[in-house]
Amino acid sequence: MSDSISNDRTGKNLSGKTAVITGGASGMGAATAREFAARGATLVLVDLDQQGADLVAGECRAAGAPAVSVKVGDVSQSSTCDEIVDSTVAEYGTIDVLVTAAGTIHRADSLRTSDDDWRRVMGVNVDGMFFLCRAALRHMTTAGSGAIVNFGSIWGGVGSAGSTAYCVSKGAVHQLTRALALDHVEQGIRVNAVAPGEVNTPMLSSQRDTPPTEEFLQAMADATIPMKRLAQPEEIARVVAFLASDDASYITGEIVHVDGGYTAR
Ligand SMILES: NC(=O)c1ccc[n+]([C@@H]2O[C@H](COP(=O)([O-])OP(=O)(O)OC[C@H]3O[C@@H](n4cnc5c(N)ncnc54)[C@H](O)[C@@H]3O)[C@@H](O)[C@H]2O)c1
Repeated sequence: MSDSISNDRTGKNLSGKTAVITGGASGMGAATAREFAARGATLVLVDLDQQGADLVAGECRAAGAPAVSVKVGDVSQSSTCDEIVDSTVAEYGTIDVLVTAAGTIHRADSLRTSDDDWRRVMGVNVDGMFFLCRAALRHMTTAGSGAIVNFGSIWGGVGSAGSTAYCVSKGAVHQLTRALALDHVEQGIRVNAVAPGEVNTPMLSSQRDTPPTEEFLQAMADATIPMKRLAQPEEIARVVAFLASDDASYITGEIVHVDGGYTAR
């Protein structure tokens, strides 16, 4: 076995690593930040929401992260993504892990999707992810190591009625992940994605006319999810932490479904 593969089984298997996490103010990005903090990572949280990101940063410090920074910015802007990564490397000397959890949704079929709706979803979910991965890869390829974990979705692999732009954007995330994995495998970089099912985060209620009731969500889970419940964000965060760590040293180009059995059918 290679000496470079960690045998750390203390639970602190991200210690010594600097991780940039987008969407770190809420939902699964925030849960991932807390999980990484408990595993000893230095963290850079990126979000549009400064207040939310500051709150999560405090929780991460309390959970044991050696250092935590917050960067407020819109990931759909290429120059912002370059600046986020370059300033991380200037501050901490490295970017070992990138997690791209920032995302948005438009709940409508194509006839109710305007040009602006389409561009907003593609701008955050696809452009933003590509810009950040590219910026991180500039440094990771020089370092000869690194791990990227992108947030895909079950809707990237199977279709769903009423979310055209979102489904297309997540399909693109899965293919971006595979293409980058193959482009950079020989440079010691791993690129994977998680594909969550229905997860109990603020996104579940966003972009709807009325927020879903508990009864609605349970009925949806009963009808569509073999485990008959929504996921909690922490259940996804633990998989992200595994993929980011050396425990996943032989995994690249993989889309890991964390969906309570949804796509097993
Ligand atoms: N919740 C689900 O059921 C579910 C299922 C599958 C996949 N996903 C994906 O998981 C990821 C995380 O989703 P979540 O449910 O935790 O969502 P969330 O809404 O709780 O959090 C998303 C975060 O991204 C930030 N963000 C949005 N646009 C941004 C931008 N342009 N620049 C910077 N930050 C921005 C938001 O401010 C927010 O803090 C997303 O990519 C989402 O598409 C969610």
